[in-house]
Amino acid sequence: MKTEYLTMKEVERAARWIQKGETVAFQTETVYGLGADATNEEAVKKIYQAKGRPSDNPLIIHVARREQALEYCREVSQRAHALMDAFWPGPLTLILEAQKDKLAPSVTAGLETVGVRLPATETAQQLIEMAGIPIAAPSANTSGRPSPTTAGHVLHDLDGKIAAVIDSGPAEVGVESTIVDLSAGPLPVILRPGGITREAVEEVIGPVSVSRTDLKKSDIAKAPGMKYQHYAPDEELFIIDEPKEYWKEKILELNEQSQQVGIIANEDLIADLSSIIQAGYSLGEKGDAESAASRLFDALRYFEKTNVTVILAEAYPEEGLGLAYMNRLDKAADHRYL
Ligand code: TXA
Ligand code: MG
Repeated sequence: MKTEYLTMKEVERAARWIQKGETVAFQTETVYGLGADATNEEAVKKIYQAKGRPSDNPLIIHVARREQALEYCREVSQRAHALMDAFWPGPLTLILEAQKDKLAPSVTAGLETVGVRLPATETAQQLIEMAGIPIAAPSANTSGRPSPTTAGHVLHDLDGKIAAVIDSGPAEVGVESTIVDLSAGPLPVILRPGGITREAVEEVIGPVSVSRTDLKKSDIAKAPGMKYQHYAPDEELFIIDEPKEYWKEKILELNEQSQQVGIIANEDLIADLSSIIQAGYSLGEKGDAESAASRLFDALRYFEKTNVTVILAEAYPEEGLGLAYMNRLDKAADHRYL
């Protein structure tokens, strides 16, 4: 299949592809998504096929208006409405009881619930509105790879496997949506930290718990996708949560072992270490977790174009966007610290 490269002026054409049961990658404020008609089983299966995604990992549906979300869910609680009021459109996915008969079976992958989100970008909203149907969309990467924050990332992974990609520039938030599960019981659970901070969610609905991030394959995962290996770059990746002197020591050790070292860190640390590393990718100003979160996925893909063999990445405090940043980094590094 030839993948069409479309601009924002051609969203109408992309909407026709969706209506015809094909897959289209599009920009959201979090990452690029790979969309298909959420009511068409054949179309949804094409998403799984293009990504090489395990079939037991359900998809989020994307809607253009709240009423559209309500058409596919039942018993939407006051708390759910309060979160929609506060954060939609935006990077928040709600796990709600599904009206399964209205959705393609592969969307819910056997669960009684469905993840629903109203994305904030013009491209996403126009695409859903013009298609006239909810769009099921996971991140538009090959399964296991870092999520795509640009159309270039999408094409790197999926060129020739999808009908089209609409290039609307880089995704702003850079990590996926926060997933809140209100279906589990009295205490809401953040299944995946993301673009909306835990602190912001708690301001609206009170205390929430955050699901463990180190689920292994054998564990029963609440968000099925959590148990799979994720975001892994081709190179060895380790996290460092230590001061500058420690970085120096470790990099010199690796240099002695003839490793080519790349680092993902704040701009000051990169400047300090520049003479002993082969490559660096700046996360922005020191301590700016929002900037770090928005750049992490591009950083993980960046070193593929270099001869770096080992990547060292900086740990951030798990507050604000730092929680989502560390969740993604921890998975990408397979929980390995140096
Ligand atoms: O920001 C985002 O959420 C992006 C953009 C494209 O919207 N989408 C995204 O989708 O990250 P995906 O498929 O890459 O990640 C969705 C996660 C998976 O871990 C999946 O297992 C979980 O959400 N999930 C989906 N439906 C669920 C459900 N009914 N219950 C629990 N977890 C669910
Ligand atoms: Mg994904």
